[in-house]
Amino acid sequence: MSPKIDRLDQRLDKARMRIKRSEDRQVIESVFDTKTLLVLYNLINHRILNIINGCISTGKEANVYWAVQPDGTDVAIKIYRISTFNFKSITMYLEGDPRFSRIPRSRSALITAWASKEYKNLQRAVSVGVRVPKPIIVKRNVLVMEFIGEGGLPAPIMQKAKPENPEETRDILLKAISTLYHKANLVHADLSEYNVMLWNEPVIIDVSQAVLLDHPYSNQFLERDVRNILSYFRHFNIPKLDTQQTTEMIRRGELE
Ligand SMILES: Nc1ncnc2c1ncn2[C@@H]1O[C@H](COP(=O)(O)OP(=O)(O)O)[C@@H](O)[C@H]1O
Ligand SMILES: [Mg+2]
Repeated sequence: MSPKIDRLDQRLDKARMRIKRSEDRQVIESVFDTKTLLVLYNLINHRILNIINGCISTGKEANVYWAVQPDGTDVAIKIYRISTFNFKSITMYLEGDPRFSRIPRSRSALITAWASKEYKNLQRAVSVGVRVPKPIIVKRNVLVMEFIGEGGLPAPIMQKAKPENPEETRDILLKAISTLYHKANLVHADLSEYNVMLWNEPVIIDVSQAVLLDHPYSNQFLERDVRNILSYFRHFNIPKLDTQQTTEMIRRGELE
């Protein structure tokens, strides 16, 4: 074996050793392909990660893991799967975004752009004070961010747990939609009870598809986000809000 391949193998093994493998083999192989293992190796080498623990979620396009940094801090890592990435479903969200003026052609470049879009959108949200997981680093298809939860146990998503104070939670979320719109120039575009975690306060997640206001469908996405949030809260005994009126109020900046 050539020394180069030998070195590559050693790196892959080093990365593999830091992954606690409790899942079935197929899932593992589809997430931790060679390129992804090398990214993890680099993150381990740069002391950003120490151990990759259990899988929190296996979604359509990405898996989320609980990982630990060398100083013991929990982090979440979202790994976009190169093998099952759905090109068609995502290119429409990249269109019209000047930050991604050229839509990458190769599969792996597109995923890199997608993960980096989520990282930048998280940064934007943080910079205007909207509660999202703080982004730590993005490398290729791997995004490292603040862990929402405690002791390796993720906080529940809103679909699974009821907010203690529904009216306040709803208003925080509507205000967040408004702040993202006016101060960060962003529309989440996939907001619902599935993408809000209930921690000390509601935390909005999963912002890879969020679009800038110039996106041709940003207004439709805004209304859909508001509708999803309001329908969730319709099941609680609190004053009802109308989707169109609320969307208009947000657009006019009346919730600011
Ligand atoms: N920062 C985080 N901390 C803890 N758990 C997280 C974090 N981000 C995501 N999760 C968990 O992973 C799940 C999937 O994450 P999400 O970003 O919504 O990906 P998907 O694109 O698969 O919907 C969430 O429902 C949540 O349970
Ligand atoms: Mg999600």
